[in-house]
This record gives sequence, structure tokens and C-alpha cells, in this order.
Amino acid sequence: MTKSRDGAPSGLATERGNAAPSSEVSSMFDGISRVYDPMNLVISAFQEPRWRRRAVALTRLRPGGRAIDIATGTGKVAADLHRRAQPGGEVLGVDISPGMISVAEHRFVGRPGLTFVVGDALALPAPDASFDAATIAFGMRNLPDYRGGFAEMRRVVRPGGRVVCLEIARPRSRLARILRAWFDGIVPVIGRIAGQGGAYAYLVRSVRSYPAPETIAGIMREAGLVGVTWTGMSGGIVTLHVGTVPPGPAESVSAPRP
Ligand SMILES: C[S@@+](CC[C@H](N)C(=O)[O-])C[C@H]1O[C@@H](n2cnc3c(N)ncnc32)[C@H](O)[C@@H]1O
Repeated sequence: MTKSRDGAPSGLATERGNAAPSSEVSSMFDGISRVYDPMNLVISAFQEPRWRRRAVALTRLRPGGRAIDIATGTGKVAADLHRRAQPGGEVLGVDISPGMISVAEHRFVGRPGLTFVVGDALALPAPDASFDAATIAFGMRNLPDYRGGFAEMRRVVRPGGRVVCLEIARPRSRLARILRAWFDGIVPVIGRIAGQGGAYAYLVRSVRSYPAPETIAGIMREAGLVGVTWTGMSGGIVTLHVGTVPPGPAESVSAPRP
């Protein structure tokens, strides 16, 4: 049984990935797509834009560059990447939930070079080495196969390009433990007020069983990334992992840089 009593996916994880099938996760996110952004801001205590900006900066994307944002949700990271890549850059946002993609498309309509598509992080709709950078923000925790997710990111990024993963982390510091207690208590309550108790209980469960930063770094190396580092933000309540695609035969997809 993968669903919990509240009707949402269990969200519990094995060392390999989230135990819930992607189809269940997708329909759960379809159900919360309209309330997702305001809820996110409140749950993160208004820190989410800062975390997102840092993740985007770590890509080192340049004007004219190409990036892919995986599990893009309502498209905010993709839009920030797109802004950073102007003039001339292109960004593709991919998400398994048609509801989330629809919100992203409506919100960012009319930005040339910013495209959203429904797709699975474990089978990205993109050729090998076709981007300068790949990001995933609060998405890795939802995948049934973390290693498969990083391997796909590695596949679609050119040699020398960067893979960045922003995710809620296991609390280590005293501050992070306090913040986590607040998170565990407040999130289901806010979720119920928004009429989405099951989905936000899933959020708490999935965060609780997500592997420690060292384990995630090891999984990234297994997926073929090199120079893997990680850093905590907001007292360690979120972690940013960065890895680089090792040199190989593929050519850069961007215009030559001065
Ligand atoms: C917590 S949201 C994060 C959205 C966005 N990145 C953000 O920072 O706000 C997680 C997203 O992962 C997506 N997702 C879950 N499993 C996926 C999969 N297998 N492939 C692609 N997207 C997936 C969900 O549909 C959801 O939009």
C-alpha cells in the first residue's frame, strides 16, 4: 500500500527514492497547483525566494546559455534562470504534473525562450549534453529513484556544466531543529486550512525520510558527477548540492563565449 490514511501518497522513502509511484505524486500536485505558491511562501517563512536565487547563481549560467529546470512546478526557478540567461538564453521547465505546468505557462506567457513541458525527471524530453546547467528545487525528494534523477541531469548537461539540487534537509543545528519542529507542526495545519491536509502531510513525511546530505552527495557521484559539494542555508533547513559533469567528447551547446 503506497497511500496513507489521508489519501495522499505515503511520501516515505527508501535509500533509493520516494516509495510513492510518480502517478500518485503527479495527481497530488495537480490538486494543489493553484494554492502551491502562496503556501510555499508561508511554509518557508518567506525564505524561498532567497534559496531560489542562490540555487540559480550556483548554476553560473551566462547570457546566451541554456538551462533545464526539472520538477519546475509553477516555474519560478525556470523564470529566474531565464532572466539570468538574457539576452538570448533559453530555459526549459519540465514537470510531471500537468496542473503545475499549466500554472507556469499562464504565469510566464510571452517570454521568448522560456518553455514549459510535461515530462518525467527520470526520462527527460531532451537530447544528451543539450544544456549548460540543470536545476531541481524541492523536487528530488519526490522521485522514486534519486540516482536515476541525477543521472538524467548529468546526461542532458554538457561536460563542464553544472547540476544544482535545492532540497529541504535533515536538521543538524539547534536552530534547524527548532525550525523543523515549527515546520512539522505548522505545515499540516496550514494545509488543512487550505483544504489540502493530505498533500501537506505528505510534504512532512517526505522531508522526514529524505537522505542526509552526505548520502545525497554519494548518490550524485554514483550518477557520474564530479566536484560534488553542498552547503546549508537558513541554519541548515535547506541544502544546496552542486556537481559538475566531467569532461567528455560532447561539445558546448551555447554560443562561444568571449
Ligand atoms: C515541491 S514541488 C517543487 C516545485 C518547484 N521546483 C519549486 O521550487 O517551487 C515538487 C514538484 O516535483 C514534481 N514532480 C514530482 N515527481 C516528478 C517526476 N517524476 N518528474 C518530474 N516532476 C516531478 C511535482 O509535480 C511538483 O511540481
